[in-house]
Amino acid sequence: MKIRILVSIFALGALSLALYGGQRAEGGSVTFADHVAPIIFNNCTSCHRPGEAAPFVLMNYADVQKRGKLIAAVTQSRQMPPWKADAGDVEFKHERRLTAAQIETIQRWAATGMHEGNPAKLPPLPKFADGWQLGKPDLIVKMSEAFTVPADGPDIYQNFALPLNLPEDKWVRAIEFRPGARTVVHHSLFFSDATGEARKLDAADPQPGFSGGMAFTGQRFAARFGLGGQANDASATNPGASPTGSLGGSLGGWAVGAQARVMPEGLAYFLPKGSDLVLASHFHPSGKVEKEISTVGVYFADKPPTKAFTGIQLPPLFGVFAGLDIPAGAKEYTIEDSFVLPVDVKAFGTGAHAHYIGKTMHLKATLPNGQEKKLLWINDWDFAWQDQYQFKDFVALPKGTRLDVKITYDNTAGNPRNPSSPPRRVKWGEGSFDEMGSMSLIVVAANEADMPALQGAIRNHVRGAFTKRRSSASR
Ligand code: HEC
Repeated sequence: MKIRILVSIFALGALSLALYGGQRAEGGSVTFADHVAPIIFNNCTSCHRPGEAAPFVLMNYADVQKRGKLIAAVTQSRQMPPWKADAGDVEFKHERRLTAAQIETIQRWAATGMHEGNPAKLPPLPKFADGWQLGKPDLIVKMSEAFTVPADGPDIYQNFALPLNLPEDKWVRAIEFRPGARTVVHHSLFFSDATGEARKLDAADPQPGFSGGMAFTGQRFAARFGLGGQANDASATNPGASPTGSLGGSLGGWAVGAQARVMPEGLAYFLPKGSDLVLASHFHPSGKVEKEISTVGVYFADKPPTKAFTGIQLPPLFGVFAGLDIPAGAKEYTIEDSFVLPVDVKAFGTGAHAHYIGKTMHLKATLPNGQEKKLLWINDWDFAWQDQYQFKDFVALPKGTRLDVKITYDNTAGNPRNPSSPPRRVKWGEGSFDEMGSMSLIVVAANEADMPALQGAIRNHVRGAFTKRRSSASR
């Protein structure tokens, strides 16, 4: 008897759960205050607030209700929050992905009248750092005059030398870049220049900053890789080398959609005393004249780093030697590159770069024991969202691990992101309507003493790509 009563109590419980579930399915109980606001505030408002990248704010019921149907659509398709990396075999820091349950909640809310619920239950808005995502920078520098970006015409590459006036050597943990005219700044690469060369070029150019920036980075390229005169040969087939973000003096960069990232503990960029910060910026005219004044926040490390790090870019130098030549109408034009790790490494970051018709970007590691790890898996590349991805934990990759990169391009009329209609033949180039392609893995050597061997192997890889390209071009 007792048992039967217990059983029926359980049954009742189950029944009421089922009823409650049914009620939710009909939507009566999904409200903004209870269910939707926490999702929006924690996943959307960081960008959808005044002064940030998004074109409108999402900060209260009226904001969200007004665009409810659109919000349901863009969360369902995972267009928002912007996060192009598929869930792979490693976890990322700062991952911007809604869970299936969160997406479902938004769908139900939008489908059932978008009720506000009890405003008293509304969670508070999270506290956002005012302006700077990473908090107050140690040093803030700003372009001294505005650079005018015309309404139309080709893409513009302009470099700006910003004096830092550092009285001593510094180590940099993070650089946060804030464009003034967000619609036209496509990316900016940061370099340190202790030679005064950039400052001279800046002064000599009548415009703010100086153009011919690719020659500037081209020189670094030649110097770093010891290619000497060969680099000039290279520039015959590729106008003036490439924006070489992974070279010496590099301090990282910013691209549309990227968030400022702090180096893992114990790692930092070196910034010699007296050096200028050089911004190598790429502008894409928007149809409207814009004036750009970039502001940069620099965050210093308290002490020198304990380890050096390096980037492995595949194919190297944004694919300049990969022979990119994509016929109009090609649906799955593919480039690939591989690199075998000569020493044990620990990877902490990854990224990818292509332009509009890039489609899939895959970076996979095959460990010596045969185990495969998808390190960055983008199946729906979007030029507008080029994040730098940091792994949640260091990913250990033993000596002998093979890194494979495979990048595909869709140059058909069916690709909604194709900027050319009808499609046209696309080759490697620096303009947004040309293409590039590479993926990077940022690593430390597991044993610091192995770093020279790793760097040597990377240099050889770049040289190999160059030599191969040159011999195939002369054939
Ligand atoms: C990292 C910054 C960022 C985050 C986080 C973010 N957005 Fe956006 N959102 C943008 C930017 C920038 C645009 C405009 C450019 C674009 O459409 O890609 C945008 C556009 C939109 C649009 C208009 C899309 C269209 O096709 O017109 C909607 C709707 C939207 N966001 C909703 C959301 C929602 C809902 C969330 C959270 C679940 C969210 N966003 C999170 C930056 C962000």
